Amino acid sequence: MEKEAVRQLNAHITTCTRCRLSLTRTNAVPGEGPVPSELFFIGEAPGRNEDLTGRPFVGRAGTVLEDLLATIGLQRDRVFITSIVKCRPPENRVPKKDEIAACEGYLQKQIDLAFPRILIPMGRLASELVFSHFGLPNIPIGRIHGQPVHAGPSCRDLTIFPVYHPAAVTHNPPLKGTIFEDVQALGRIIEENGLRFRQVK
Ligand code: URA
Repeated sequence: MEKEAVRQLNAHITTCTRCRLSLTRTNAVPGEGPVPSELFFIGEAPGRNEDLTGRPFVGRAGTVLEDLLATIGLQRDRVFITSIVKCRPPENRVPKKDEIAACEGYLQKQIDLAFPRILIPMGRLASELVFSHFGLPNIPIGRIHGQPVHAGPSCRDLTIFPVYHPAAVTHNPPLKGTIFEDVQALGRIIEENGLRFRQVK
């Protein structure tokens, strides 16, 4: 049932023509992961490798993300991974507001289907979108990274845990330690909440 809903949603995403990014993409990149999925990671936009393969986080940022997940005993196929826009912006430019808006409904449906306990927006744009989506005031990523924020009393048990984008490490190496510490904090939250996606070794 969920699988069919995911298949249908992905079919919409991969044929979407709602914004100009559809004109320059090779493949749309819906995202991937189990449904339901307790952990839901949200990046910014596909890059070159993602555009060529149709899979999220398969380039350098993906390696950084996988290495970080491994430090808390997680494998990528245990979590849902997507981005706020599903098509690569030309030359990897920052996605524009109208492109993000055109894609927001897809992200919302993915969150509904995956029904996560923790949303992990990665980077400034994903963090801004998730906070505004849940009616929360925007707090710059430099201040809010690594801190759990409850998505509000009217919401079910949902925590937002913003982190820097894994690609930031490649542009700004000193952030490596910060992202590492934040992911360790995420690991402790997972532990405390007895979430079930840890691989049994
Ligand atoms: N960066 C993102 O934000 N998303 C991807 O899929 C790849 C790199």
